[in-house]
Amino acid sequence: MAVLGIDFGGSGIKGALIDVEKGQLLGERLRLPTPEGGKPQEVAQVMKQLAEHFQWHGLVGCGFPAVVLHGVVQSAANIDSSWVGMDANTLFRNQLDAEVHTVNDADAAGVAEMRFGVGRELPRGVVVMLTVGTGIGSALFVDGHLVPNTEFGHLIVDGKDAERRASDAARKRKQLSWEEWAKRFQRYLDVLNALIWPDVIIIGGGISKEPERFLPYLKSRAKIIPAQLQNQAGMIGAAMFALESAQQ
Ligand code: BGC
Repeated sequence: MAVLGIDFGGSGIKGALIDVEKGQLLGERLRLPTPEGGKPQEVAQVMKQLAEHFQWHGLVGCGFPAVVLHGVVQSAANIDSSWVGMDANTLFRNQLDAEVHTVNDADAAGVAEMRFGVGRELPRGVVVMLTVGTGIGSALFVDGHLVPNTEFGHLIVDGKDAERRASDAARKRKQLSWEEWAKRFQRYLDVLNALIWPDVIIIGGGISKEPERFLPYLKSRAKIIPAQLQNQAGMIGAAMFALESAQQ
């Protein structure tokens, strides 16, 4: 079964046709730049361009960088504040003339990683996937079941929102060396570990392309493993979510 999986990120909006049973891309992905400011109409327009590129009118899944409850956006840490309260499913459906299901981007990536990536090998227990990119997204799994919209990227660490200090965007913005960034991320992991005591922490997002750069600096009681699906996880998971929602 093919579904168009879209991942709305801070710098790019990526799309690809996904084979949902295999958890694989059916061809090349297309990445278009995220419109400056990430406003709803403009983002919807880019989504439409993606659907047109793939000549797609079937089911669409969209990984979205905020809390999403039943298609309605609830927060806006890295996107325009006019998204809050907006029914993204309806906005995208009208624009694309296709059935669209929207889900938190980290939850989407986590679901894909658990089913088709490193998560396949893991025993039962508590697993948290962190997507480290423009923000820090989180997906919490208890015995393989997702607890949606956890938002652990916004834990307050030393009086500050964690993702402001420890995301990959913060590393680039502050021109930190990997070691300097890892110190900040270590502090974040210590707080997270002390609060939820996971068995495993999977590190995904843009940063997971180069795990050897930072893993040697990190220490954690919970086992830390880099994600396998890297930047494809969001698109694959969004497609999986759309199929599951459409079948309900
Ligand atoms: C948002 C999350 C999102 C994460 C990664 C955070 O700022 O609050 O909902 O998953 O960024 O995009």
